[in-house]
Amino acid sequence: MNPLIEIRHLFFWYGNRLVLEDINLDINQGDFLAILGPNGSGKTTLLKCILGLLKPQKGEIRLFGILVEKFKEKWRLGYVPQRATALVDPVFPLSVEEVVGFGLIPKKRFPRFFTREDRKAIYQALKRVEMEKYLHHRLSNLSGGQQQRVFIARAIVSYPEILILDEPTTGIDAATQERFYDLLAELNQKGLTIVIVTHDIGIVNKHVKQVACLNRRLVYHGTHEEFCSSPRLQQIIGEHHLVIHRH
Ligand SMILES: Nc1ncnc2c1ncn2[C@@H]1O[C@H](COP(=O)(O)OP(=O)(O)OP(=O)(O)O)[C@@H](O)[C@H]1O
Ligand SMILES: [Mg+2]
Repeated sequence: MNPLIEIRHLFFWYGNRLVLEDINLDINQGDFLAILGPNGSGKTTLLKCILGLLKPQKGEIRLFGILVEKFKEKWRLGYVPQRATALVDPVFPLSVEEVVGFGLIPKKRFPRFFTREDRKAIYQALKRVEMEKYLHHRLSNLSGGQQQRVFIARAIVSYPEILILDEPTTGIDAATQERFYDLLAELNQKGLTIVIVTHDIGIVNKHVKQVACLNRRLVYHGTHEEFCSSPRLQQIIGEHHLVIHRH
């Protein structure tokens, strides 16, 4: 089976500052991968390269076997950006339904209005994050944690094959976080491939199958079991100042 995401000898610089160095990583169908690393270690940059939002200066990335710069079927990847709530414009009156509906746009042909099916999909996605009550609310009137859940609904509404999440539960209360992780695990069991950047070792311990530790270079990549039993673990954590909160 070919990997869904193949990263080969990837280098990325912001100006003359090297942020990703010779990254090689395969992500396979059904993986539930956590990417760990300290602040500024390149995690968001790596996700943006995978999504085709940033163009690496060296190396290549393939999605479903196709070079990312040629890949057109964007709806096959769902993305929850880091601090998405910071982008909410309080003046622009978008409803929750419209925001989640944006997640359907890449999949739709012209005309791009929402059909009954679309509205159903939007409602279902909101239900999964327990936000269906807010369908007709203005996004800017919701709390940060509620907005975050709406962004998660937007990422899953098109039934993507890969879900990429960048610290998705920042600002979400512990109980909702727990239910959200259970939802991710359920989606993963149904075949969804998940890549999550997180500082939360709770989800890492409970649900993820693979762990990658990034600190400009990929300093570790293996299964969760190997990660936990690795005699090098403490060394990796110490050397690379990984933030691990035990629950
Ligand atoms: N647009 C940019 N221009 C210049 N430098 C940037 C830019 N975005 C990020 N950087 C720098 O690149 C490095 C990696 O940033 P990145 O956002 O990928 O880190 P991260 O691992 O996601 O960190 P965090 O855990 O804080 O989210 C950091 O040193 C950051 O300051
Ligand atoms: Mg980041």
